[in-house]
Amino acid sequence: MILPGTPETLIEKCVARSSLSDAEATFLFSPAFDTHRTDLYAAADRVRSEMVGDDVYLRGLIEYSNYCTCRCAYCGISAFNADIERYRMSPDEILSTLSAGYDMGFRSFVLQSGEDPIWREQDIVALVKTIKSRFDVAIALSVGEWPRSSLEAFRAAGTDRYLLRIETSDPELFAKLHPDSNWEARHRCLMDLKELGFQVGSGVLVGLPGQNGASLGRDLRYLIGIQPEMVGIGPFIPHPLTPLGNATGGTLDACLTFLALLRLYLPDAFLPATSAMGSIHPDGRRQALKAGANVLMPNISPIENRARYQLYPGKICLNDDALKCRTCVEGWVTAMGRKCNPGHGHIIRRSRPTNTAFNGA
Ligand code: 5AD
Ligand code: FES
Repeated sequence: MILPGTPETLIEKCVARSSLSDAEATFLFSPAFDTHRTDLYAAADRVRSEMVGDDVYLRGLIEYSNYCTCRCAYCGISAFNADIERYRMSPDEILSTLSAGYDMGFRSFVLQSGEDPIWREQDIVALVKTIKSRFDVAIALSVGEWPRSSLEAFRAAGTDRYLLRIETSDPELFAKLHPDSNWEARHRCLMDLKELGFQVGSGVLVGLPGQNGASLGRDLRYLIGIQPEMVGIGPFIPHPLTPLGNATGGTLDACLTFLALLRLYLPDAFLPATSAMGSIHPDGRRQALKAGANVLMPNISPIENRARYQLYPGKICLNDDALKCRTCVEGWVTAMGRKCNPGHGHIIRRSRPTNTAFNGA
C-alpha cells in the first residue's frame, strides 16, 4: 500500500479534518495501522474533552415493541424471524417505565421499536404529548422510516430527537440488506428529519459483509456530509436466525477507529458508546468512551422483554434491571474520572478551527 506520508502525519491530517482518500481510509482500517491505533484514539479523546467536556450523557432506552414488518438481513427481530416471541408494550406500560427511569434521575429517553404497524402515527403522537405534558424530559424516537407528514406530527408533538441509522452509505449494499426499503428513501427520511428541526442521530454498522476500509471511509464522508447531532455506530454481530447468520462480524478495533474518526471530523457531536460494542467485548463501552464517545444509553426496558429484543446475540444486560444498569454505569464511569450527566443533553453547536494543527496539549 502506497501512503503519501507516515501514520503520524495521517493522524495529524485527521485531526486537521482534511479529507481522506480511499487509500488512507484503507490504511486506517488495516492491520498495518494497528501499532498507531491507540494514538488515534488518544487524539480523539483529547478533542472530545476539549470540545464537549468530560460528561457522559445518559439516555434511558425503552424498547417498546419487537414487532417489525421489515426484513433487514442482519436484524434479529426482523419479520424473517418466526422463532422469537413478539411483545408490544402498552402506552401505560411505557409511561410507568419512563416514570421509574425519571425517578432514577434520567431526563433523556429513547423510545425504540421495530416498524410495528399497530403503533400508528396518532398513537406515537399521543404518547409523546402525554410524556411531554407530564415530565420535563427530552425524547428521542427510534422507530424507523416514516413519511414526512408523520415525522412532522412527531416533531409537533414535542419529540426532540430522532435516531435513524443510514446503516451503509453504499446504495447497492443497502439494497441487498434491506428488501423493504431503499437507500434514497432512507436518505430522504434523514433530510426530512433535519429540515423539520429534530436533533438527528444517524450511524452505520461496522463490519458488514461487503464493507472494506475504503467503503468505511465513504461511510464516514457521508456522515460528515449530513452533519448529524448524534452518530451511533456499532459492530455488525451475526444473528443465527437471520440470512447473515454465518457471516463474519465487525471488530471492536474497527468500531473504535470509526468512532475516533467521527470525533475528529464531527467534534461537537454526541457519540454513544453503544451496547453492541459492549456486547462483543466486556470492556467495549469503556474503551469507546476513551476513543471519542460521550454518551451511554442504559437499557431501562422491563426485564421480561429484554431477551425478546435481541437485534443481535450476546446482548448485554439481559438480566439486569434498570436500577442495576444505572448503578453499574455510574460506577465504572466515575472510576474513569468522568461524570454521568442524566440531564436533557441537548446539542450545543461549537466550532473548532480547521486550519490549526492540533498540538495535543
Ligand atoms: N448487529 C449489530 N447491530 C444491529 N442492529 C440491528 N441488527 C444488528 C446486528 N445484527 C442495529 C442497526 C439498527 C440499530 C437499532 O441496531 O444498526 O439501526
Ligand atoms: Fe447493565 Fe452494567 S450497564 S449491568
